[in-house]
Amino acid sequence: MIVSLIVAISTNNAIGKNNQLLWHLPNDMKFFKNSTWAMPVIMGRKTFESMNSKPLNGRLNIVITRQKDWAIEGVEVVNSLEAALALAAANDYRESFIIGGGEIYRDALPLAHKIYLTRVDATIDGDTFFPEWDESQYSLTHNDYHFADAKHQYNYCLRNLQDNGTNSPFISFTDAFFHYWFGITSPKLADHLH
Ligand SMILES: NC(=O)c1ccc[n+]([C@@H]2O[C@H](COP(=O)([O-])OP(=O)(O)OC[C@H]3O[C@@H](n4cnc5c(N)ncnc54)[C@H](OP(=O)(O)O)[C@@H]3O)[C@@H](O)[C@H]2O)c1
Repeated sequence: MIVSLIVAISTNNAIGKNNQLLWHLPNDMKFFKNSTWAMPVIMGRKTFESMNSKPLNGRLNIVITRQKDWAIEGVEVVNSLEAALALAAANDYRESFIIGGGEIYRDALPLAHKIYLTRVDATIDGDTFFPEWDESQYSLTHNDYHFADAKHQYNYCLRNLQDNGTNSPFISFTDAFFHYWFGITSPKLADHLH
């Protein structure tokens, strides 16, 4: 299973403030919906709450929390990123999307095979940031620059980046099945997850 990360980042690496996004860019929202449609979306509990605690339709919603009794209808709840990826893989998806926020991106970045990146061309005050990363580790496979217009406050760039090979793109169904149902982690899956 390919592990992808999808994020919109300002020039100064901000991604959010007061548990909200920093911009309203309809084309970015379309890019997000088209990219993640029918796929698992994996998020931290705070990001889920930032969406009015409503699951995204047409996608398997997986929320990560340390709380043992947290539950919401229409959402799969797990207690770690590893369990989230194992659940997605055990359902035989070819790709899963890490959709934020800052804490989850920080843990997931070393695992990401692909990054769907929106670069917002502005310096914006935020309280949540994307982790430091080495963009040169990724190859650019798509780059689409857009100028601000009546509906888009900022210039922005939609990019697809592919890992140059450091991260393994594949978690097998069998590895994920044993990890999720029996708590047994194969050496191969452990290599991928850590
Ligand atoms: N620009 C973008 O593309 C984008 C995308 C998504 C979100 N955002 C923004 O990012 C901000 C939210 O990000 P955030 O960093 O504050 O929160 P977050 O990453 O969405 O969620 C953090 C929560 O996830 C759970 N968690 C984190 N690590 C865990 C672990 N190792 N094991 C188990 N549970 C774990 C904890 O939940 P519990 O406290 O319940 O245990 C933690 O409080 C918002 O402003 C949102 O709008 C921006």
